[in-house]
Amino acid sequence: LPAVTKALAQWVFSHPYNTKRPEVTVVKYLQPFQLSPETLQEVSARLRKDLLRGLGKHSHHKAPVKMLPTFVRATPDGTEKGDFLALDLGGTNFRVLHVRVEEEAQKVLKMDSQICAIPQEMMLGTGEQLFDHIATCLGDFLESHNLKGQTLPLGFTFSFPCEQLEIDKSILIRWTKGFNCSGVEGKDVVQLLKEAIHRRGDYHIGSVAMVNDTVGTMMSCGYKDQSCEIGMIIGTGTNACYMEEIKNVKRIEGEDGRMCINTEWGGFGDDGCLDDILTEFDVEVDKTSINPGVHIFEKMISGMYLGEIVRLVLVKMTKDKLLFKGQISEALGTRGLFETKFISEIEDGLENAKKILTELGLDWSLVDASVVRLVCDTISSRSAYLCAAALATLVNRIRNNRKLGHLKTTVGVDGTVYRKHPTFSSKLQKAVRLLAPQCDITFLVSEDGSGKGAAMVTAVAYFCASILIQWMV
Ligand code: BGC
Repeated sequence: LPAVTKALAQWVFSHPYNTKRPEVTVVKYLQPFQLSPETLQEVSARLRKDLLRGLGKHSHHKAPVKMLPTFVRATPDGTEKGDFLALDLGGTNFRVLHVRVEEEAQKVLKMDSQICAIPQEMMLGTGEQLFDHIATCLGDFLESHNLKGQTLPLGFTFSFPCEQLEIDKSILIRWTKGFNCSGVEGKDVVQLLKEAIHRRGDYHIGSVAMVNDTVGTMMSCGYKDQSCEIGMIIGTGTNACYMEEIKNVKRIEGEDGRMCINTEWGGFGDDGCLDDILTEFDVEVDKTSINPGVHIFEKMISGMYLGEIVRLVLVKMTKDKLLFKGQISEALGTRGLFETKFISEIEDGLENAKKILTELGLDWSLVDASVVRLVCDTISSRSAYLCAAALATLVNRIRNNRKLGHLKTTVGVDGTVYRKHPTFSSKLQKAVRLLAPQCDITFLVSEDGSGKGAAMVTAVAYFCASILIQWMV
């Protein structure tokens, strides 16, 4: 352990900035974000306990980490095939896809797809409006692709915490990320979709399978790599699923085999157990969010919130006359205008930083630009290390479950933060190696890196919803 701690300390606290330069004066603003290796181990230990609370029959009800059974009992074996429709709701867009899974070529082909934007008002409007919009997009897609007469099975990737009662009965526990539509929490999402389609009355859908995006990611990677037993998303939101021994899922009957559990780790800390590591900026981000008190861990990690944390730190430094000659531009002073993608761009190079600061209407100096890079680096690194602590908890649990001295496993990953940030994935991987030294993890991005295009990637990520339907048949 001391060796692990020492190695962790070296990279957690090292950054490419010379301590003799003026930006060291800002270090005190950033120190609260720098989590020591011991703290990360402590975070992992707390999550380990919370996983147990979520799995327990009597403790589940109040557990912040929900550990939701998905009824997925196996990963794909590469023999699945057929034509499917897939729906994807979870970010700012809604997507409809027509997907073909070819057994022989072990390929997932996207036949066609369509994206419908979900306007902000709709994300905060009524459930009926939202599902009517979804039904309209699906109807338009079927119409324009001559699919209205067919009854294809439909996989619905719905990236919110749901209590799955059956494969086609999924009760929304609560909205997260940018959504807060009335009249949906506590209801069966499949039923709401079917009612909206019924209101239109011009087409029918076949059987529906509900899937969380983490499960979709695990399954799509599992199609290529049989040892993929964890799915992780670090995008607008964050979450992971993994294969748990059924005998440990106390709310489920049965002893044998494994089931995929959607951890909903974004809810970690909702009972206050992470309060000691929250900064004043995290508290502010939570307070001004549409769902205060909910998904505290997610708010320290995911793309929906990272930009805002950086903005709040920059505003405070500017008010304290450490940056931009003490002048806050209108853009910097406006909530949500410092986008998370700026963090990736700024960390990618000083020239990007200068360009973005100019676009934000700031009067910057070279020192300002490098301090902004340091702020971005600190906050994105914290996100990577917290994810690493959480992932280490899962792999260590799988290894203990199987009583193995050494575990070799694959994690399927998706999400813009993981994919787009220049150093996020390497920091996360290095940290997991140190926090889970007896686990050898392969990370598989649920995307074809050779550049077959975003549409193909989307199909690969979501076809698993359809595979579930085949299992049902
Ligand atoms: C949701 C999860 C989802 C994650 C990533 C979270 O806000 O609660 O269900 O997997 O975002 O999209």
